[in-house]
Amino acid sequence: MSTSRRTFLAGGASAVMASRKGFTLASGERKIAVRLDAEIGTIRPALHGHFAEHLGTCVYGGLWQNGAYNETAISHLRAVGVPVLRWPGGCYADDYHWRDGIGPREKRPKTVNIHWGGYVEDGSFGTHEFIGLCRRLGAEPYLAGNVGSGTPQELRDWLEYCNYPEGSTLAEERARNGSREPFRVRYWGVGNENWGCGGNMTPEEYAAAWRRFVTYLLVPLGEPRPFLVACGPNGNNLDWTRRFFENAGRRLPHGFAMHFYSSGDDPATKFTVESMRKQLASFARLERGIAEQRELMDKYDPKRAVGLMVDEWGVWDRMVPEEEKRYGRLWMPITMRSAVAAALGLNVFHRQADKLVMCNIAQIVNVLHSLLLIDGARCVRTTTYHVFDMLKAHLGGASLTVENGETDPLGLSVSASRQGKTLAITCVNPRHDIALAVHCSLAGGSAASAAARLLTHPDFNAGNDFENPDRIVPRAHRVEAGGDELKMEMPPLSVATAAVKLA
Ligand code: AHR
Repeated sequence: MSTSRRTFLAGGASAVMASRKGFTLASGERKIAVRLDAEIGTIRPALHGHFAEHLGTCVYGGLWQNGAYNETAISHLRAVGVPVLRWPGGCYADDYHWRDGIGPREKRPKTVNIHWGGYVEDGSFGTHEFIGLCRRLGAEPYLAGNVGSGTPQELRDWLEYCNYPEGSTLAEERARNGSREPFRVRYWGVGNENWGCGGNMTPEEYAAAWRRFVTYLLVPLGEPRPFLVACGPNGNNLDWTRRFFENAGRRLPHGFAMHFYSSGDDPATKFTVESMRKQLASFARLERGIAEQRELMDKYDPKRAVGLMVDEWGVWDRMVPEEEKRYGRLWMPITMRSAVAAALGLNVFHRQADKLVMCNIAQIVNVLHSLLLIDGARCVRTTTYHVFDMLKAHLGGASLTVENGETDPLGLSVSASRQGKTLAITCVNPRHDIALAVHCSLAGGSAASAAARLLTHPDFNAGNDFENPDRIVPRAHRVEAGGDELKMEMPPLSVATAAVKLA
């Protein structure tokens, strides 16, 4: 974009408007342009992927209660859509031995979850239960294999157990355990965070493990051909990526998974303005990290055969020991601030759709940036859930270039996509003290009609909880559409998605 165009597009805060929750509010105008003639790439459904770990009450006590699926959770998750679900970890994956989770439940060994509190699990949620959950949700399963404490043979055998059609001892064992049909698992993680909880390896050590493991995984063990995911960096650690690719040998991964967590300095419902600004601004780092990782990978993989993934992402606020004791490890309330963070993350993924193949929020239930909070029979849809619900309008669409003069990491965030005659535009206002009037021009198209939904709340520390499960829900929002212009008001700390019918 030219400098003069940038100057034209960037708006400024103007008149002081009102006082809201003790803050002085200003209003600002923003001019943006959605370029229907400049497609970035397809927004794959897997960019809205999910992650469920044996951690706290995510699986046991959350998705799985007393030996059965949590039907309320399944019904909410089916409604929002779960394109892909990663399991069983996280750190847990590199201490999980899949044979502990098959066969008659009463005979399964009781194992200690060493990473998340040293408690005993009864193994009742294993491979068959996970695949069953994915089938119920309509999700593509993604199994994270054990490299840190496992062997190539163990992972190879899991692949055979899941995917080999019939006749081998492992395929027959699967049939005896209830599934003659192979599970046809496509996504396989070769370790998790092997620079940390997955074995504390150097990039060279992990690359050596990678070469050894994939020798026994890229073999004819049924359909589909496995999509093998290598452990990528912690955040934007370019050194890890460079040294991995230098040493990975000729068998490059199909996916390379970075992790991004935005830590919070305060407990989730007690954020200060300063901590909130710091956390929300960090999503600019995520976007830069994706671009820089991809740029570096391009040197080793110029045809982009290796897909960049962010297979764990989200906010990680300060834990409250009493809450963790009551609801499980890494249990975190979800607020309006967390919703804005979730929408900033998804907007980044939409804008970087040409560089990404999968992104999984951490985690789906009761852990970190969750979609559902579950306590026994109680099940709350968090503001994260509502953000995923609103932004799913982009899935499968062609991401479009948006001219948005913002350079401030706390500036207006926008993503846009098109599917046929429908255009989806998501705006996020991460500022708690400025309302924005967004003027959007459509370059290369015009609007016949538009409707929008808005998620906002005057208190950024408020959320949906067991006492008030629907405190913050999306509401219909006014959007003016005429010719090639749209106009929408964005209150402080808000997320809006407009669905525009093109003429
Ligand atoms: O999501 C919680 C933990 O965060 C995962 O187990 C690990 O991979 C990451 O450090």
